[in-house]
Amino acid sequence: MNLDKARILVTGGSSGLGKAMAAALIAKGAHVAITGRDPDKLQRVAEELGATPLEGRMDRESELMQVFAQLDARWGGLDVLINNAGIGRFEPMQEVEQSHFDEVFPTNVYGPALAGREAVKRFMAQGYGHIINVASSAGVKGFKNGTVYAASKFALRGMTECWREELRPHNIRVMLINPSAVPTAFNVADRSEKELRDKMLTPNEIAHAAVAVLELDDRGFIPELGVWATNPF
Ligand SMILES: NC(=O)c1ccc[n+]([C@@H]2O[C@H](COP(=O)([O-])OP(=O)(O)OC[C@H]3O[C@@H](n4cnc5c(N)ncnc54)[C@H](OP(=O)(O)O)[C@@H]3O)[C@@H](O)[C@H]2O)c1
Repeated sequence: MNLDKARILVTGGSSGLGKAMAAALIAKGAHVAITGRDPDKLQRVAEELGATPLEGRMDRESELMQVFAQLDARWGGLDVLINNAGIGRFEPMQEVEQSHFDEVFPTNVYGPALAGREAVKRFMAQGYGHIINVASSAGVKGFKNGTVYAASKFALRGMTECWREELRPHNIRVMLINPSAVPTAFNVADRSEKELRDKMLTPNEIAHAAVAVLELDDRGFIPELGVWATNPF
């Protein structure tokens, strides 16, 4: 697709990977709207990037619906949804409680599903559209203390496969990006950004991957893309 003037929603675009994706897409000429939980940060980052800030938490259906209503009012539709907003929590399996799932699944699973539904209504009407779900290497392989987070990303990966089957006949491309570890504000209690590290990925590699999968000609798509640090050891 041609990203110039494309209308793109990046959920959780006010920090980390979402922010880097928004910046890279804007550099390609796209119109990008971002969401986030902290309204002040959302406004500040949107101003910095030249993005459109849309207030609304993706774990609350009524707010998510408002985000799509605002997109309709502003752009009259949408070309690309990037389901990026996500949170994590990590504990040994013997300490897992139902409340831990209740904390993570609304943002990591229900939000992407409902945002996907709203985007797809619009994509089907226009006869095309593009979805990137941001899962994780934790959505491909489990690891110690990952019960809740990995379960949420496996769920997102599973939904992504279902959507592909349903949506290819409607010219809607559904793609999954699985980043491995990137220092961001992810899982940081005070939401400060971690310092970048020499041997680890930066948010820019994930942004590069998102631009690349979108820019591929619409006749094809890359179903799933893992992004790893070359030598994190
Ligand atoms: N960093 C990694 O190592 C890594 C690796 C693999 C996959 N991922 C995935 O990549 C995605 C982005 O992670 P990141 O590292 O960029 O994390 P981050 O720096 O913590 O950014 C997360 C973004 O999502 C927003 N957000 C969280 N919950 C939300 C909700 N319910 N509604 C709306 N916005 C919400 C945050 O807003 P506020 O800042 O206002 O809270 C922030 O803008 C996540 O899905 C994560 O699981 C990350």
